Amino acid sequence: MRIIRSAKAWLRLRKGGALRERSLGFVPTMGALHEGHLSLLRRAKRENDAAVVSIFLNPTQFNDKKDLLKYPKTLRADMRALEAEGADFLFLPDYRGMYPDGYRYRVSETGESSLLCGAFRPGHFDGVLTVVMKLLNIVGASRAYFGEKDYQQYELIKGMAAAFFMATRIVPCSIVREPDGLAMSSRNALLTSAQRRLAPSFGRILSAGGTPGAIKRRLSAAGLEPEYVEERWGRRFGAVKLGRTRLIDNVKI
Ligand code: PAF
Repeated sequence: MRIIRSAKAWLRLRKGGALRERSLGFVPTMGALHEGHLSLLRRAKRENDAAVVSIFLNPTQFNDKKDLLKYPKTLRADMRALEAEGADFLFLPDYRGMYPDGYRYRVSETGESSLLCGAFRPGHFDGVLTVVMKLLNIVGASRAYFGEKDYQQYELIKGMAAAFFMATRIVPCSIVREPDGLAMSSRNALLTSAQRRLAPSFGRILSAGGTPGAIKRRLSAAGLEPEYVEERWGRRFGAVKLGRTRLIDNVKI
């Protein structure tokens, strides 16, 4: 696995012809990799000649700085997992390399980004869309893979790629769940063991159906603190807090 630490170095590699005529699958991440990320990498490898994963903990998408500070950081283990899965490249930029403009320029969406998570995390999707636009422009992949756990994020990125005529195809990938049904997420590592035991009831209650109000009441009764439950795009979305950890999930309806 080749590690590339700057946009300049990656662009040099592309110019030098190392990737010419080869299809490239791209998996953008913020690190703290789990089986969900690795399943995206496997698909990227299957569907392309080479696969690149980026790890960049993007500060501009954290509306709460405490959330950024406590976000799990496991770079060594991440690198070992990527090597073991046969990633061809790791793109590992730093903040100055990604934001030479100091975030003066940003991408905003003016409709669906204010719903669901956007209503509770002001500025979050500006940060996501801006960094994904930068990453897609730098990497120049044929396809980029996004997990459906962050379905609103996927919808917004797909819309951005279409609106700006971007060349990379945006590929959605099904949610990967733990054996007890909990959707895999880097934030699961922040749960205490008691919270971890409660967490699978989130997906179960969301799938069982009912009105958003009734589902919220059931979530509260189960010891979870619901933020929202809403239906859209043929799916039911939910966000809950378990202690200080925020979890999201969605199910097809
Ligand atoms: O889903 C994530 O991990 C992040 O939002 C992404 C797409 C890597 C952008 O920082």
